[in-house]
Amino acid sequence: MTKKNDQEKMQKIVSLCKRRGFIFPSSEIYGGFNSAYGYGPYGTELKNNIKKLWWQKFVQERANMFGIDGPILLHPKLWQASGHTESFNDAMVDCRECKKRFRADHLVEDATGQDLEGQLEEMSRILKEEKIKCPECGKSNWTDARNLNMMFKTAMNGVNEDVYLRPETAGAIFIEFKNIIDSMRVKLPFGIAQIGKAFRNEIVTGNFIFRLREFEQMEIEYFIHPEAKWEEIFDGWLESQEEFARELGILNENMRRYEHAQEKLSHYSRKTVDIEYDFPFGFSELFGLAHRGDFDLRQHSKYSQEKLEYFDQKENKKFTPHVIEPTFGLDRSILACLDAAYTEEQLEDDVRIVMKFPARLAPIKIAIFPLLKNKENLVKKAQEVYDNLKSKYVCEFDDHGNIGKRYRRQDEIGTPYCVTVDFDTLEKDNAVTIRDRDTMQQERIKIEELDNFFERKLK
Ligand code: GAP
Repeated sequence: MTKKNDQEKMQKIVSLCKRRGFIFPSSEIYGGFNSAYGYGPYGTELKNNIKKLWWQKFVQERANMFGIDGPILLHPKLWQASGHTESFNDAMVDCRECKKRFRADHLVEDATGQDLEGQLEEMSRILKEEKIKCPECGKSNWTDARNLNMMFKTAMNGVNEDVYLRPETAGAIFIEFKNIIDSMRVKLPFGIAQIGKAFRNEIVTGNFIFRLREFEQMEIEYFIHPEAKWEEIFDGWLESQEEFARELGILNENMRRYEHAQEKLSHYSRKTVDIEYDFPFGFSELFGLAHRGDFDLRQHSKYSQEKLEYFDQKENKKFTPHVIEPTFGLDRSILACLDAAYTEEQLEDDVRIVMKFPARLAPIKIAIFPLLKNKENLVKKAQEVYDNLKSKYVCEFDDHGNIGKRYRRQDEIGTPYCVTVDFDTLEKDNAVTIRDRDTMQQERIKIEELDNFFERKLK
């Protein structure tokens, strides 16, 4: 299957996600709601497994990392300090004919290859002079390009100014710098990590769960000494991010690094690199890594009037640490994981669809079947096997349809192992048939050895 612009593959993934309970269009019974999505039972398991993997890898297995869970609603001054109120803008343009709204920079870049981020007048000129066509109606009758602030405004009782849903989790991390320093035994370098929702009033959403208005991020602010050899630390983070991508099932050949040009960087940033994945619509940003200097701590210090410094006992002095920020989109991780796992295999008389998730990410680890639904003893024994395994592994009991159909369903949700209780189990060997998702090989294992078997296979 080719990767580039593989809209057919994307459609197959979207349809599998709905058919099999991974991801549903939001508010569907009301006709949908502006390309928003909700996670179904298997999507929620997959999402939780990815979060768990990330938290284990980046928080629990690192001695100098502190995990937090900050609020979505934060003091409005915070967004002034971070620059979001002033300049968290995207360029939008409206088609006067069909009234659809677009990202002006994306229209220009798609048509001419030029990256004109921030240059509104130039975008307007090119849109008109080059007669760039509206992707919706095909005409060329544009308004001027103008900035739209992407923060979601809301109101809070008792607060007389606009309040915003946080546009990134990072803000909630920076404002806890002082609390972490004061309450934990902290030594530089150290990091503060968070997983949570972020909201951006994107002009255009799309590509399924790639660009959403409500999404989740997994972010780290990693504080370092201003004179530390930051290049080594930065490269170490890039490697860890790529390692995490591989743990999602992504192959090296399907990801690449994209370094932002020096002249495009914010004044405080020394280096920014995106890790891109070859999504069905081509290479696009999956994760990001930025050296942000001391900009954030200094800004929050200035706006809050609180000193946000680190006291170094060895040097006997206080200073403002620099920060390196590894950021991961959770929904994009899920989309990449779904895309990497999606496999079609030609069988003799059929095509088998299999989600080859890494075992630890699979929503269901083991499915347990009685060979026949209407044989009470088989069902009872299968139920017993299920009851013994379910407290340790996420299991599913299934007695619908025939075995072939049950295998197909479990393949489509990516269950690594299916266990069948049959007549030999009851009458001969007290063993079950275990079928491997990827090889479709079957083997016979004694019921009392199941726990050891899965302990080895699913660690
Ligand atoms: N604190 C830095 C920050 O927020 P960003 O590049 O704007 O940086 C970080 O966002 C990550 O969040 C991206 O790499 C992407 O994975 C994810 N992300 C950003 N906007 C998104 C959107 N509209 N929908 C889904 N994921 C998004």
